[in-house]
Amino acid sequence: MRVLSGIQPSGKLHLGNYFGMMKPAIELQDRGEAFLFIANYHALTTVTDPEQLRRATLDVALDFLACGLDPAKAVFFKQSDVPEVTELTWLLSTVTPMGLLERCHSYKDKTARGIPANHALFAYPVLMASDILAYQSNVVPVGRDQKQHVEVTRDIAIKFNNEFGATFTIPEPSIRDDVAVVPGIDGQKMSKSYDNHIELFGAEKETKARIMRIVTDSTPLESPKNPDTCNVFALYRLFASEAQAAELAARYRAGGMGYGEAKKALFALVWETLAPFRARRQALEQDVAGVEAILARGAERARSEARRTLNAARRAMGLD
Ligand code: ADP
Ligand code: TRP
Repeated sequence: MRVLSGIQPSGKLHLGNYFGMMKPAIELQDRGEAFLFIANYHALTTVTDPEQLRRATLDVALDFLACGLDPAKAVFFKQSDVPEVTELTWLLSTVTPMGLLERCHSYKDKTARGIPANHALFAYPVLMASDILAYQSNVVPVGRDQKQHVEVTRDIAIKFNNEFGATFTIPEPSIRDDVAVVPGIDGQKMSKSYDNHIELFGAEKETKARIMRIVTDSTPLESPKNPDTCNVFALYRLFASEAQAAELAARYRAGGMGYGEAKKALFALVWETLAPFRARRQALEQDVAGVEAILARGAERARSEARRTLNAARRAMGLD
């Protein structure tokens, strides 16, 4: 089974990215052949400062390796080291109906937020389809907001296969229902664009301050509280063992515990759980050349795979 996922280097990664995409993707490296990449071509639709893009690309590489991506098990690479995907994007564009792209939420959301409505932003799902199809991926672990893009990919692949003969594997999205949407400190979906996020590798003071600002209801301290509707508990549950979660839930229901206390418990657990990741990240930062070598090796593997698919698609369409 081949598993593939990508993440854009468009800012510091947060807990939503970790639980929605990185953790499930990293876990799959033990269950199948994982291809994980840094989507820097995609990031060009929003990041226009070259230095910022370089820095963010390295940051994502460090973050992923610090969180447990094992380059001996997974193929880890930068999207732009495999330019074959851009050629494949063109071939796929010719079988992509306009209506399919016009229905995509993410284009509408992004332009509504003021991101320039250029062709790359509109055609973004076709590049994503190319990423997925180039490596003949079976499973694509992503957060719920990316599910539509995997469905678009399936539609494009089915249409291509029907018109030109079996060329692409039809992928399936994999969405973990328990962590499908990680809430931010304001209770909306955690996202760097809403500035409601908690960084995975933020400084201690900032992390604590953000956790203390999580929005809660106005139930008085002494009253029983409902853990199932509380943003603090929703985040606590992601980090906690079952026993820890059951214990805090019982304290909510018993009354007499304020939200401030729950927030302190959340911060302590977050900070402790991420400690080994932080240590690993610091070590990696001392060896940037080593990290670059990992990405270069990954690119070589990815490229030979993409080349094979691209050649098959070219042949199927009469470009040989
Ligand atoms: P952001 O919303 O911060 O810009 P991205 O859109 O770059 O995040 O998301 C990168 C990956 O992380 C995607 O697979 C996305 O589905 C996942 N993801 C982002 N935010 C969340 C969240 N709050 N809950 C679950 N998954 C998320
Ligand atoms: N569009 C994805 C995001 O914004 C990133 C991405 C690009 C991706 N290509 C992909 C994810 C292929 C999964 C598979 O999060």
